[in-house]
Amino acid sequence: MHSGRPTACTDPELADQETTPGIGVHCVLSDVFHPEALCRAAEIEHARRQLMIDRDAFVELMSGVCAPVTVITATGADRRPHGSTVSSFASLSLDPPLVSFALDRASGLLNHLQPGDRVGVNILGAHQRALASAFARRSQEGSKFDGVAWTRRAGLPHLPESAGWTAGLVQRHVDGGDHILLVVCVEEAETTPVPPLTYARRVFGTHTPLAVAS
Ligand SMILES: Cc1cc2nc3c(=O)[nH]c(=O)nc-3n(C[C@H](O)[C@H](O)[C@H](O)COP(=O)(O)O)c2cc1C
Repeated sequence: MHSGRPTACTDPELADQETTPGIGVHCVLSDVFHPEALCRAAEIEHARRQLMIDRDAFVELMSGVCAPVTVITATGADRRPHGSTVSSFASLSLDPPLVSFALDRASGLLNHLQPGDRVGVNILGAHQRALASAFARRSQEGSKFDGVAWTRRAGLPHLPESAGWTAGLVQRHVDGGDHILLVVCVEEAETTPVPPLTYARRVFGTHTPLAVAS
């Protein structure tokens, strides 16, 4: 039990919750402004913070998760191309065919990818590291497409010679803390023999098959 606990919170129900903080706690709207409910909310928040993983440990863990490198693209209302480097791209569902990726709430690209908008995904190849760095710049620094070889495909900015390409419709936004998870319904997909670009432990790499044991 932590010190400095408000006396108003020492009811048996909350004493139980101390061993299982935040679990099984329900409140209705009329409870919210009640002093006891406010106290309970503060208790739960305190317990939640104590349970939270150390930020550096979390960042270190996730840096070791090998990720694909993509450039997600959109066409703005002004017909200009937009794109950002994204490694959170993942397969979500086979039936229906869905993929997902997460964008920082501050991402400029997010403005062009609202539900109902079309989106392109260029899965970068191992030789496209420079593109990954170029599209990781902020949008305000001018068009990221200046000096880049690109075409329009299905009305979306496409980077040729990538390892793969898919395009689809943004189906919905899902709250993901400081990011927004975008769920995309896939409309077209193409793979090429180009080896993929990967990102792990803060460096770019590629996938190498292990030798088959004899
Ligand atoms: C390898 C790599 C992977 C990245 N993955 C993501 C990601 O999954 N989501 C995200 O929001 N930003 C990601 N970023 C950062 C964005 O590319 C960067 O913040 C960019 O400036 C955003 O541009 P925008 O504001 O035009 O959208 C990644 C950057 C790199 C270099």
